[in-house]
Amino acid sequence: MRAVAVSAFGEQPQLMDLPQPEPGPGEVLVRLSAAGVNPIDWKIAEGMFGDAMPAAFPLVMGADGAGEVLAIGTGVRRFTVGDAVFGQFQRTEQGGGSYAELALADEAAIAPAARSVTYATSAAVPTAGTTAYNLVEETRVSEGRRVLIVGATGGVGTFTTQLAAGRGAEVIATARAAQSELMRNLGAAETVDHTVGPVADQVLAAHPDGVDVLIDLASGPAEFSAMTRTVRDGGTAVSTIGSADADDLTEHNLRGFNFVNRPSPQLLEILAGQVDSGRLTVLVGREVLLEEAPEAIAAQRKGRTQGKTVLTI
Ligand SMILES: NC(=O)c1ccc[n+]([C@@H]2O[C@H](COP(=O)([O-])OP(=O)(O)OC[C@H]3O[C@@H](n4cnc5c(N)ncnc54)[C@H](OP(=O)(O)O)[C@@H]3O)[C@@H](O)[C@H]2O)c1
Repeated sequence: MRAVAVSAFGEQPQLMDLPQPEPGPGEVLVRLSAAGVNPIDWKIAEGMFGDAMPAAFPLVMGADGAGEVLAIGTGVRRFTVGDAVFGQFQRTEQGGGSYAELALADEAAIAPAARSVTYATSAAVPTAGTTAYNLVEETRVSEGRRVLIVGATGGVGTFTTQLAAGRGAEVIATARAAQSELMRNLGAAETVDHTVGPVADQVLAAHPDGVDVLIDLASGPAEFSAMTRTVRDGGTAVSTIGSADADDLTEHNLRGFNFVNRPSPQLLEILAGQVDSGRLTVLVGREVLLEEAPEAIAAQRKGRTQGKTVLTI
């Protein structure tokens, strides 16, 4: 089968011809039609998680994917051959991932795909969608809360903006001028252009009383600390990239943490339902062929992302 993989941590991703995987107990073999690209994919391939993430090589890249069940292992109850599914396929210890024609998933890592959209659209949902859902849940975003989302125009941000606005929150989203209208269409009450000046200064100028919740998907530790100036006394500040410092937050009387996503099949089902009911728009910014993955990854590393990048297989 064709797959995009690395031969060791830090090596360049390459299109390879690899043996077809066979499903073991509790595993589902899926013929993938599309794979979603996430920043974590290249972070894993670079070896950024060290010994915490043991891997076998060649290591197929990618977590998110969607396609049709080709075979099931013993004990699989929730799926049968021919089912349309989506979910997470990264299994570093076995060298498996979603940038491939065929991939194995644990039964608990996938769910029935949304019926109203293409596999390419479904493949854009798992990591970013579950992250966004858990972010608004864990920061207790609710009606009337003012929420600042930094990094709002990317994969996680476009879902988080919609889910927070859907709960009745007043969302302030960072966006370059060209993406301001798009973010408003997704539910943002206003946008702040992070390329024209410090976001915190702009937010505080417009809202001297600050925001209730900061969801930061982009700032390094020093920038995150500066960004927390926008959060009112007793508010909540969270980073998805490990930039929150517990002592700093406590000193400023803020609740906060470094977010770690906990996906589940139930959450995937909720998101598929929201896509089918039209409550959640999946913003696929770019669709490229599997063999173009190395170039797509390089583009995402530069940071200029609008919505999700999807590989069609
Ligand atoms: N902790 C977890 O469990 C978890 C889960 C999922 C994701 N993450 C992490 O969360 C981050 C976001 O993920 P993603 O999938 O949304 O990434 P993405 O699709 O690549 O989007 C990143 C977005 O951030 C914007 N951005 C970059 N620098 C910015 C800045 N200084 N100020 C404001 N916006 C900025 C970019 O817009 P411009 O190009 O226009 O600047 C882009 O829209 C990644 O680092 C990812 O690894 C963590």
